[in-house]
Formats: sequence, structure tokens, C-alpha cells
Amino acid sequence: MKNFEFYNPVRILLGKGQIANMSPYLPGKAKVLFTYGGGSIKRNGVYEQVKSALGGREVVEFGGIEPNPKYEALLPAIKMAKKGDVDFILAVGGGSVVDASKFIAAAAKYEGADPWDILANGAEVLSAVPLGVVLTLPATGTEMNGNSVISRLSSKEKFAFSSPKVLPVFSVLDPVISYSLPMNQVVNGVIDAYVHIIEQYLTYPANAAVQDMYAESLLKILKTEGPRATTLKAPDYDNRATIMWTATNALNHFLSTGVTTDWSTHSLGHELTALHGLDHAVTLAIVLPGVLNSVKEKRKEKLLQYAEAIWGLSGFDHIAVIDEAIRRTENFFECLGVKTHLSDYGIGQETIDLIDKRLRDRGVKTLGNCKDISVDDVRGILESRL
Ligand code: NZQ
Ligand code: ZN
Repeated sequence: MKNFEFYNPVRILLGKGQIANMSPYLPGKAKVLFTYGGGSIKRNGVYEQVKSALGGREVVEFGGIEPNPKYEALLPAIKMAKKGDVDFILAVGGGSVVDASKFIAAAAKYEGADPWDILANGAEVLSAVPLGVVLTLPATGTEMNGNSVISRLSSKEKFAFSSPKVLPVFSVLDPVISYSLPMNQVVNGVIDAYVHIIEQYLTYPANAAVQDMYAESLLKILKTEGPRATTLKAPDYDNRATIMWTATNALNHFLSTGVTTDWSTHSLGHELTALHGLDHAVTLAIVLPGVLNSVKEKRKEKLLQYAEAIWGLSGFDHIAVIDEAIRRTENFFECLGVKTHLSDYGIGQETIDLIDKRLRDRGVKTLGNCKDISVDDVRGILESRL
């Protein structure tokens, strides 16, 4: 196991009705910027629950944050937070609202010329407005990590930043709030969490049994509870609570301790969302099988471990075992109702050519943290997903 430092101070309040219990963790006399998305919280009663929990605090609202939040659309909120001396940001929504709020929190305190530098050029986040979260969509893990992913309309780019300064002070996870999600979003969440685990687990052996077996347990849970969510006639509390807590654990920095992580599937997925607006999880379901195929010789050991632990596959012909594990992974996504080929979304060769060019223009040499996928492999990975 490699050396590591692990820090995750996020307070989690999981369970029915927990919004009512967040008040002690909000500053008493704060001016709160209450951020939310396109309106689902006004239809499912969450807005009222939050307003009541905020009590007599001064509140300014910033609603209408879109899925895959756009830098341009967040500028007014950054201005508001800068000049209005906001003491606290309360993000109520899915990954998009929470990520947008993290960026607002960091940008409001940023002293450089353009906060886009935090995303595009790795400018350091030295401070941020403190932030709390009421999560409405289990998927991204953003409720318990310091990551944020933001798109820029003008350049059709989607980049991430990560900083301990935007770790939420607390996150409320009420599984009942997820009942109003359309099933495609529930499924998106399962796939996103599954791929988060894969990105941290399916790389190279590090003699990290704790992380490996934790990852395998979480994958098995998603493999069972994801399909179960789609077949139940009505949402089941324990099914939704399990999916929610699994998604949080899938990306709260724990699985990445002491191991080599990847994230190449995510970086290619972000290109597809930036260019075509596809849901984040859909891009991962398309790209992952191609990435795994491209590294099946190099990452043989972990792929065989995955094949056996998750799919019960073993045998003398290692490549055949790996191929079957990749096929079953793709089939898992398809059975959840997500199509896994670019052509299913009307995307063709031109997009592959464009992604190849964009990566080269940015000077990218290798993809992900493993350094085992070169920019020359990208074309083949994406062409295998046509
Ligand atoms: O905007 P509203 O009206 O709230 O509707 C949303 C949105 O249309 C709806 N929704 C959310 N909760 C609901 C609900 N509808 C009914 N009932 C509820 N309880 O769902 C739609 C999608 O929401 P969104 O927040 O976009 O989804 P998700 O949570 O999947 O977030 C995706 C974003 O997170 C980023 C992605 O790239 C993408 O931008 N990610 C963030 C990560 C992180 N910070 O660690 C890691 C991930 O890999 C990912 O990149
Ligand atoms: Zn993701």
C-alpha cells in the first residue's frame, strides 16, 4: 500500500426527515445563499422543508442551476456572494447544484483575474465560503468530497477541480427525497457510482486489501440494488438508503487511499457531455468498456480479480475471462436501460476526430492517472464504441 494522507471531516445526516436536524450545523445568524436547480425541490416538498429548517436566518436564493452547470450561468451568483457578504451556501439538489455551489464558494473568495483558472489551469483555492448540502440525487459523491465539475458554454469544455476548502460542512442524505427521481436518474446514479469505484479499483495491485475488498463490496451492492430499484413497483426505503450511502462511499476519497487511481473514463466522458450534452452517467457507460478493453493486457491482474470477485469468472484463458467480465459490465449497464454505443445517441466519427484533436491541442500525452493510456489510444477506444 502506498503512503497516504486521508482527511474527510464531512458530517453526514442520513435518514428520513433529517433536513429538520441540520439547523445546529448552520451558523446561527448567517446570511445564507440557498442554491437549487430547475424546480424539482418545489414539486417534492424539499423547498418547504429547507425553508423551515433555515428558520429566521437571512436567505438569498439562486435557483435554476442546470444539469452539467455552466460557468457563464454561475457568474451572477458569484457576484452576489462577493458583494453580499454571504456567510454560508446551502446547496439543495443533485451533483450539478452541489458542484455549482462549490465553484461559487471558491470563486467568491478567488483573488485572481478569472475564476475559470481554478478549473482550466489548476489555480489553487486558498479559501471558500463554507457550504452545506441537502442531496436530492444519489450518484456523484459530491456530498462528501472536495470535487466540482463545471462546463463552459463558450468553449464547450468541461473541467473538474478538487480542493479540501470546498468539502461540505455537512450533508443531509434523506433517501425519501430520491423517491421523486425519474427512474433514468436513479439508474444514472447507480452507473456513476459503479464507475467511480472502478476508476479507483481497476488499476494496478497495491496490496491494499482494505480498499480492494471495500470496493468489491460496494460494486456487489450496486449490482444487486440497482436492478432491484428498477423492478420494484414503488420505491423501497432500504433499497434507496443503500444506493444513497453506497454512492457516497464510492467517492468520498476513501477508496483512493494508498492505491493508483485512473479517471480516464471520466475525462473522455466529460468530452462527450461538453460536446453533446449527454448525461454524465451515460457517457461513462459508453466509454468504460472501451477503456477496459484497451488496458486488458496491462491491467490483467486487477481485471482478473474483478472478474472473479464481481462476476464469479475464472479460467486458464485469462483474456477470455477478462473479455467476459467486460461484456458483463456492459450488459449490466444495458439491463439498467442505458444504451452503451455512440451511435445510439447519433454520435459518429466526426466527434471522435474532434476529441482526438482537442486533446492534442491541449497538449495531453496520456489519459488518467495510470499513464497507461496514451493520446494515440483514444481514437481506438472511441471507435470501438461506435
Ligand atoms: O434541476 P432539478 O429540477 O432539481 O432536476 C434535476 C436534474 O434535472 C433532477 N433531480 C435531482 N434530484 C431530484 C430530481 N428530480 C426529481 N426528484 C429529485 N429528488 O435530476 C436531474 C439531474 O440532476 P444532476 O444534479 O445534473 O445529476 P447528478 O447528481 O447526476 O449530477 C451530475 C453532475 O455531477 C458531476 C457530473 O459531471 C455532472 O455535471 N459529477 C460530479 C462529481 C463530483 N463532484 O465528485 C463526480 C462525478 O463523476 C461527476 O462528474
Ligand atoms: Zn462520475
